[in-house]
Amino acid sequence: MMQSLLVDNLKTYYFTNSGVVRAVDGVTFELKKGESLGLAGESGSGKSTLALSIMRILPSFAKIVSGRILLDSIDILSISEKDFNKSFRWKKISMIFQGAMNALDPVYNIRDQLYEILKYHNYKDRFEDRAKEVLEEVELESSVLNRYPHELSGGMKQRVVIASSLLLKPNLLIADEPTTALDVLVQAEIINLLKRLKREGMSIMLITHDLAIISEIAEKICIMYAGEIAEFGRAKDIYTKPMHPYTQALIKAIPRLRGEKKLSYIKGSQPNLIEPLEGCRFRDKCPYVMDVCKKTPPLIKSNDGYVRCWLYK
Ligand SMILES: Nc1ncnc2c1ncn2[C@@H]1O[C@H](COP(=O)(O)OP(=O)(O)O)[C@@H](O)[C@H]1O
Ligand SMILES: [Mg+2]
Repeated sequence: MMQSLLVDNLKTYYFTNSGVVRAVDGVTFELKKGESLGLAGESGSGKSTLALSIMRILPSFAKIVSGRILLDSIDILSISEKDFNKSFRWKKISMIFQGAMNALDPVYNIRDQLYEILKYHNYKDRFEDRAKEVLEEVELESSVLNRYPHELSGGMKQRVVIASSLLLKPNLLIADEPTTALDVLVQAEIINLLKRLKREGMSIMLITHDLAIISEIAEKICIMYAGEIAEFGRAKDIYTKPMHPYTQALIKAIPRLRGEKKLSYIKGSQPNLIEPLEGCRFRDKCPYVMDVCKKTPPLIKSNDGYVRCWLYK
């Protein structure tokens, strides 16, 4: 079981021809034993980049320019690539990549796709047993091993992807938008599956642009906006008393029961992360904007978390 995860002032930038994209720009949060995290924020806010930084799977033109990531008190950014791959990646921390279910290789059957992951580790001999075990964990029959991706439904493909992330028995599972592109019933099944894995002792970092599904999994929530954390805290506090105006807008946008119309989401274009707005990055969309917002907002401590906003100074 994961004891703790601390991400401390993490900055991950993409060095592109059009400039430096400050995709993750000073992110800090902490999870304690048994806690799971929901990471929410609109598309382009840096969620996937944060996840890929924790997995240390970034393209060569991306760089973690500062910060620390402590998993069970071990600084996983200071370990050699060889050791990280041997003892951490897929083994302690695993990830379901955004869109992975649509990236399964059509020419290989499921057995081959799972074997591809295990063959680099010492599981080779026990492959068949472990593959069956892990399919059972995601509630698929072992006959799925002989099938090809096109023979499976979307929900089954997503279960295969989850199974592959469980092969080496990780303590922390990062699930990047695992229910996007699935229909509502299948979404609920996948969330139930993640809930069960959590009950069985796994920590989950659930990434989504949909705040409504986080409540089922996570004790803690991070709200990201433009590469930064706008607000971090206990899920129940964030649902009942959202502090940051961006969080308030996200909470309002959760469609209620009885088919009430989806409320207005945040209007306007995605924030520019090459030349981010100075001061508060949300100020051009904020209904409470003040003069002082042109200056970098302070981090205000709240219950077990913080909010980055001048309103609370
Ligand atoms: N491979 C990449 N090369 C250049 N920029 C990227 C790359 N991946 C993401 N970005 C940029 O980094 C920012 C954060 O993206 P991402 O982490 O994918 O956000 P999210 O997962 O919240 O949608 C965006 O501005 C995006 O355009
Ligand atoms: Mg993403």
